[in-house]
Amino acid sequence: MSDAEGDCGTQGLPHPNRREVIAAGISLPVVAGVASGIAQPASTPAPERIPLRVTINDAPYELSLDPRTSALDMLREQLSLTGAKKGCDHGQCGACTIHVDGRRVVSCLTPALQLEGRQVVTIEGLAPSSGELHPMQQAFIDHDGLQCGYCTPGQIMSAVACVREGHAGSADQIREYMSGNLCRCGAYAGIVAAIQQAAPRMGG
Ligand code: FES
Ligand code: FES
Repeated sequence: MSDAEGDCGTQGLPHPNRREVIAAGISLPVVAGVASGIAQPASTPAPERIPLRVTINDAPYELSLDPRTSALDMLREQLSLTGAKKGCDHGQCGACTIHVDGRRVVSCLTPALQLEGRQVVTIEGLAPSSGELHPMQQAFIDHDGLQCGYCTPGQIMSAVACVREGHAGSADQIREYMSGNLCRCGAYAGIVAAIQQAAPRMGG
């Protein structure tokens, strides 16, 4: 895996233990059916809900979650923060990119419970104030760095991280460190130009 791909992963976050929870939830009904000699449809009991405290876009949240919930589903379905998009849901397109403690991660592969005590920023919280755009958002507009716009929130979150990481020194470097964000519309030329415009305005 290249450094660029790694930067868009979930490094530095503790690993989850979702497998045990799921396994415990589905094994009990099957065992009961075998013991009685009667075929029983396997049912999945509702899993225990786990509390989560997290700060998102400077606002504190106290939630109670199914431990299998991804950060992306938590944002979109429970908090109505739909800026992060569900493209592949497998960590391969970057449409769901958010920042966790300043690092870019793909939220579809990040269990929500790993966000305990962390600072999360989504595209909704990127601008410095309401009515004002982040320099990267303005640059995407200036350079037509989008067509349908579906990948754009993830592209912008990754682009901001790319600059902050010091990986926007050249067009080639930008392409390498943005390689985890796919655009099916092929707006790559505008995206690279936008990052080159925004980088000096961000001090990068
Ligand atoms: S939706 Fe997360 S990487 Fe594609
Ligand atoms: S602008 Fe359409 S997928 Fe990127």
